[in-house]
Amino acid sequence: MPIRERVVEEFDRRFGARPAVLVRAPGRVNLIGEHTDYNDGYVLPMAIDRAVWIALDATSDTVVDVVALDMNERGCFDLNGLRERGDQGWLEYLKGTAWALQGAGHTLRSWRGVMAGDIPVGAGLSSSAALEMATARAFAWAGALAWDAAAMARLGQKAENQWVGVNCGIMDQMICAAGRQDHALLLDCRSLQYQLAPLPSGATVVILDTGTRRGLVDSAYNERRAQCEEAARRFGVKALRDVDPVQMQDLLPRLDAVTARRARHVVTEIARTVEAAAAMHAGDAAALGRLMDLSHRSLREDFEVSSPALDTMVEKARQHRGCLGARMTGAGFGGCAVALVDAARAECFAADTASAYIAATGNEPAVYVCRATAGALVEPV
Ligand code: GLA
Repeated sequence: MPIRERVVEEFDRRFGARPAVLVRAPGRVNLIGEHTDYNDGYVLPMAIDRAVWIALDATSDTVVDVVALDMNERGCFDLNGLRERGDQGWLEYLKGTAWALQGAGHTLRSWRGVMAGDIPVGAGLSSSAALEMATARAFAWAGALAWDAAAMARLGQKAENQWVGVNCGIMDQMICAAGRQDHALLLDCRSLQYQLAPLPSGATVVILDTGTRRGLVDSAYNERRAQCEEAARRFGVKALRDVDPVQMQDLLPRLDAVTARRARHVVTEIARTVEAAAAMHAGDAAALGRLMDLSHRSLREDFEVSSPALDTMVEKARQHRGCLGARMTGAGFGGCAVALVDAARAECFAADTASAYIAATGNEPAVYVCRATAGALVEPV
């Protein structure tokens, strides 16, 4: 049964009533613009056809009461007295979002709901941002708060940074809040303004999960952020976004070799991202694919956030005749690659790449041929 119907039916079964509305918040994949968001640069993500759904209605006390079907758990929290993170797993994302909304001055109304989703957790497809934006949508509906995608994304990021304790940039929450069907978003992570970038006709996006996860992602991520900040400081700019590839050539000698490679990735990646959006507007799938290939090389050699599994997946993808470009996506060190593929060959690309990857690594991959969908929405039941 589709998730949408499952949460409605379970709501009915558990609470003995029809839910008032449904909330849907998608996961995301980033086409290009990796490790640029926290450098005030550009990213080019799309919201995907995997999402978190909540069926809900408003209640008149101060308790939020949620059944999480995927965990087979039920959790509650009181809107009065949200002060610091507890250890309630998935519920902390909801509590943190409520806390961030209250901190921004919103008066929240309580609700009860049934939640389920199909975004794989921990794969780098932003299941946590989806949970935060679904929660924000639920509170916005229950309390009649205006939905400003950028403001809500900032609050979701605040929940992630300060409540959950993960030091992410703005990309994931923003694309989850503002995504559009059939489009990626060229998002300026400094102003939070964005332009729609249409997916080239005849091309499909395929997500290739390596099935590998690495525990050190958080510390490596924080180390990369610190190196980028150090490079910006030595360049005398607010963020690496303020340097273009030509200016960078004169400035690089100010940095040690490692920091210079980090800066070179970010500065060239921001330029590639803007170029990629232009290629999409021109309907030039081949150019977009080439930029994705270059992005992977830069992430592997200069930013050093790829992994043997990701490199193998990208290499196998690249060897297929249906492939226009491929790269690791998300924070790195494991998780997923993304490929741009000739739509007519997408299914055979998916099957062939998965078997080539299994033969080379012995790991069990997961492959998703995906569509670009709308960002977080409230829908009638
Ligand atoms: C993670 C973070 C994002 C972004 C990417 C790298 O997904 O959550 O904010 O920094 O890594 O591009």
